[in-house]
Amino acid sequence: MGRVAIVTGGSRGIGQAISTALQAKDVTVVANFGGNAERAAAFTRETGIPAYQWDVGDHQACLDGVARVTAEVGPVDILVNNAGITRDATLNKMSWDMWDEVIRINLGGCFNMAKAVFQGMRDRGWGRIVNIGSINGQGGQYGQVNYAAAKSGIHGFTKALAQEGAKFGVTVNALAPGYIDTDMVAAVPEAVLEKIVARIPVGRLGRAEEIARGVAFLCSDEGGFITGSTLSINGGQHMY
Ligand code: CAA
Repeated sequence: MGRVAIVTGGSRGIGQAISTALQAKDVTVVANFGGNAERAAAFTRETGIPAYQWDVGDHQACLDGVARVTAEVGPVDILVNNAGITRDATLNKMSWDMWDEVIRINLGGCFNMAKAVFQGMRDRGWGRIVNIGSINGQGGQYGQVNYAAAKSGIHGFTKALAQEGAKFGVTVNALAPGYIDTDMVAAVPEAVLEKIVARIPVGRLGRAEEIARGVAFLCSDEGGFITGSTLSINGGQHMY
């Protein structure tokens, strides 16, 4: 039997592209989604990939969700922590709720989901965890202290968990996208986005499929010696 993957936030945007890229590699994919049931249903109709709803920011919901997937689909070999939200504002205008929601979902979600799958991966001696970070976790971004902190946290989380998984055949990597043509980036005010695109050496927004290909590679058997790394796919906007 092929591998089983969960892609959080897997029915829209970058997550949708990751789900279908893994499916094309003969992985049995389950997409988790948080809120948009209509979109998730359409995604399942289009792709045949089942979509399961739970809040990745809710620890118990993650444990229950993964237990359901394990019972109905099979043990989870691949986890892609992709679910994320933005609540952009400068610090002066940012409420504690805007801070907390982003940390809880974007960073807490990685912990909650890893907790739910890591022991099983260790026991079976094979696993792949890919955490979607961000160029803005690497370089910071005006108006995003919450998001930049969460994404930066994801990069640290990745390196720490990679050390714990290595001797059990579990690799843990991060992928840091730049500005990708999705609903999330479309929400950035047009004038601001124009200035951002002007700073991308490749001269355009990225495509979700360009991120998904990187994730699929990190999840493959061939990626077994890559762990604790960050793959930056950002059109040259941030290099280090
Ligand atoms: N650097 C320096 N100054 C900046 C700035 C920047 N990057 N961006 C805005 N400013 C300045 C403006 O020039 C303005 O200054 P003045 O008052 O002196 O004219 C001041 O900040 C206020 O700017 P706004 O009018 O835009 O203020 P606002 O409160 O309406 O909005 C904001 C602030 C919410 C941060 C808005 O600028 C914004 O949405 N910026 C985009 C943030 C962004 O890039 N988010 C990424 C979302 S996509 C994503 O996160 C995916 C990923 O991983 C890449």
